[in-house]
Amino acid sequence: MKKIFLGLMICISFGIAGEMQYYDKVISLYPNKNDNKASGRLLPTNPFEIVKTDGDKVLLKISGFVNPKAPSVLYLNDTQRIIVAAFAKNTPPKLLNVIQGKNGKWDKADIEVWATKAEFVKDNKMMLAKAKEIYMQNCGICHTAHKENEFSANQWPATFNSMVNRTAIDKEDRWLVIEYLQKNAKDYKGQ
Ligand code: HEC
Repeated sequence: MKKIFLGLMICISFGIAGEMQYYDKVISLYPNKNDNKASGRLLPTNPFEIVKTDGDKVLLKISGFVNPKAPSVLYLNDTQRIIVAAFAKNTPPKLLNVIQGKNGKWDKADIEVWATKAEFVKDNKMMLAKAKEIYMQNCGICHTAHKENEFSANQWPATFNSMVNRTAIDKEDRWLVIEYLQKNAKDYKGQ
C-alpha cells in the first residue's frame, strides 16, 4: 500500500514538473533573472517547461538540438532548421545535458533561461489553428494558398518571407505562421 502511494506521489510530482507549456508569441529570453537586455528569443508553438517562478519572472527549461558549428540556435529536431530558440551570436546559451548526435546529426541539449510570466497554455493546437487561419486569409488572396506540404521545412521560411510584405500579416504573427508552415511541411519529421 505504502509503495503504491509513493509511486503515485512520484508520478504526480513528475507530471507537474514536466508539464509542457506553449505560447503563441515570441518570448524574450534572459540569461539571468534581473537582466534587462534579452539575449535570445523563444519562437511560438514550441514546448518548454517552467522550472521555477519568482515574482513576475519564470525560469524556463527548453530542449532542442544544436548544430555544434552554430551553437546559438536551438532546433526542434536533429536535422531540420525549425528554430525553437535563437540567441545573439555573442551570447550563446549554456548547454546542459548534451547528448552528442551521431552521423552528423545535431546534438541534443537543454537550456535554462529566464522570461517574463505570461498566459502560457498547455498545448499548441489552438495557436496552430489560428496560424492556419491567418495563413489562409492572407496568402490566398492573389493566388490560391499554396499547400503546406508543397515545400520542405527548410524552404518555408524564405518562401514565406519573400511574400509576407504583400500581406497584412502583423509582425508579431509572422513567426507563428512560419512555425505552423514548417510543422506541416512535406518532410516534417516531428520532434
Ligand atoms: C498581393 C498579392 C499576393 C499575396 C498577398 C501573396 N502572393 Fe504569393 N505570389 C503573388 C504573385 C504575383 C506571384 C508570382 C511571382 C511573383 O510575383 O513573385 C506569387 C507567387 C508565389 C509563390 C510561387 C513562387 C515561386 O517561385 O514559385 C509562392 C510559393 C507564394 N506566392 C506564396 C505566398 C505566400 C506564402 C503568401 C503569404 C505570405 C503569398 N504568396 C501572398 C502574389 C501574392
